[in-house]
Amino acid sequence: MDPLALAAIEARQHAHAPFSKFLVGAALEDSDGRVWTGCNIENATYGLTICAERLAMFKALSEGHRGFTRIAIVADTDAPTPPCGACRQILWEFGGNLEILLANMTAETAKHRLKDLLPLPFDARLL
Ligand code: THU
Repeated sequence: MDPLALAAIEARQHAHAPFSKFLVGAALEDSDGRVWTGCNIENATYGLTICAERLAMFKALSEGHRGFTRIAIVADTDAPTPPCGACRQILWEFGGNLEILLANMTAETAKHRLKDLLPLPFDARLL
């Protein structure tokens, strides 16, 4: 498996998902080759939950990193787990047309470009 997917699998071990029981890991590669990981962290009020992808991106941004190439997203499902709409928007804003690698615990299951998952995005060019 791609090392980025393996990093996402490892990050998933820290997921806090007692409500959905749906554990997700993400690993975001920046243009220096550094990997930023995240997992979903749920909250009893549900709406404060943060997805694995956004956490990985916010960790990188909050440490001053900009410029990203790929993100791997992992869940323990046969069908690929694509990023939710909110994550697509955030990933687009800060990562542009990222390569999105989807995997489960044993195999890579799909590969996409973000522009194909978020056609006609709203972004700063329209402000
Ligand atoms: N989740 C993610 O972390 N990333 C995704 O791509 C899909 C959904 C989380 C949010 C919530 O904690 C749980 O999975 C079920 O929606």
